[in-house]
Amino acid sequence: MPLELAIPSRVPGEPLCLGDLELPSRFCLAPLAGYTNLPFRLAVREMGGLGLATTDLVNARALLLGSAKTLDLVMTAPEDRPWAVQIYGADPGELAAAARKVESLGASSIDINMGCPVNKVTKGGGGSALLCHVGKAVDLVRSVVESVAVPVTVKMRLGWDAASHTAPDLARAFQLVGVKAITIHGRTREQGFSGGVDLAGIRKVVEAARGIPVLGNGDVKTLADAARMLAETGCAGLAIGRGAFLNPWFFRQLDAWDRTGDPGPGPDPIERLRFMRRHFHLLSTIRDERFACLTFRKVAGWYCKALKPGHDLQQELVMLRSIDHFETLANRVEERVAQRAGDAWEPVDHAVPVPDGPIAHW
Ligand SMILES: Cc1cc2nc3c(=O)[nH]c(=O)nc-3n(C[C@H](O)[C@H](O)[C@H](O)COP(=O)(O)O)c2cc1C
Repeated sequence: MPLELAIPSRVPGEPLCLGDLELPSRFCLAPLAGYTNLPFRLAVREMGGLGLATTDLVNARALLLGSAKTLDLVMTAPEDRPWAVQIYGADPGELAAAARKVESLGASSIDINMGCPVNKVTKGGGGSALLCHVGKAVDLVRSVVESVAVPVTVKMRLGWDAASHTAPDLARAFQLVGVKAITIHGRTREQGFSGGVDLAGIRKVVEAARGIPVLGNGDVKTLADAARMLAETGCAGLAIGRGAFLNPWFFRQLDAWDRTGDPGPGPDPIERLRFMRRHFHLLSTIRDERFACLTFRKVAGWYCKALKPGHDLQQELVMLRSIDHFETLANRVEERVAQRAGDAWEPVDHAVPVPDGPIAHW
């Protein structure tokens, strides 16, 4: 069953470039800490249509200290290109050194986080705290831009709160110091993940950052959302986070729609099951059995929502124990999906858990 009944008209645009780096499409995977690890990025890339994938946010100091957990976050592979690493911190020297390290690891571009709302990040002066200090934010960005040859981008929110939408001023200043693109999540820090995305606010950033592309971000889950974001904000491309989990072939559909006006076939349970197997396989081969099982438990509910294998199998999947256990359960899910062949499949629309207020942890 098609996810949307009416296909929106395409919104023409230019190819998306970060400086000299032309991306394969205008549709990029936004970082989702805890989820956008190498196995997930590779699985999504294989579905086609992806412009750029970014790592989870990476603490600059921890990266320089060589923390094992942080090095896991910058794990990559030759097929994981173009690949951006997102760094955060508040010290210009540290950010610059971290950027050089990331560049030496092969990053296609470096993204600086100025959107993270959680206290753990903002109390150190990083993430969305930088939205309150334009001069400091610009110094920090300039020091990164001057330290590396690869394109530097910034991902930010509209401002700290409704009374201080600093993003347009920041965007203009970042462009002047050499930033090659900006991703703007159309909410303030105060909003966290609540309320709607402010498309007019995103448009102001697009207008302020003339000369560099702006990627619109927030709540794009369907083709209609994408068309609306592109048309109403004038943004050059989209960064999609939670929508990629609802529909891992969203990028393929968006790219086909962008090129031809036709998104092609919608989600199909057999393909979704294949994607689930592939995702788990990559988790277990690139990392290890324990990591795969623990990570899969976090996303099992999302697959079950789409595949509806029954409460009993869902209960087992969220307690996944081993690779063998996964194989057994995936086969049982497949049997149940096959029994329902020919049924109309409802569009999947369920919430990806978000940090619950600014003090929650990502
Ligand atoms: C669980 C979770 C983790 C996130 N981690 C990051 C992160 O590491 N870096 C970042 O810039 N944004 C992060 N975000 C914000 C997303 O990239 C994105 O801006 C936000 O979810 C809105 O876009 P969406 O509606 O397409 O998901 C995270 C969001 C969620 C829900």
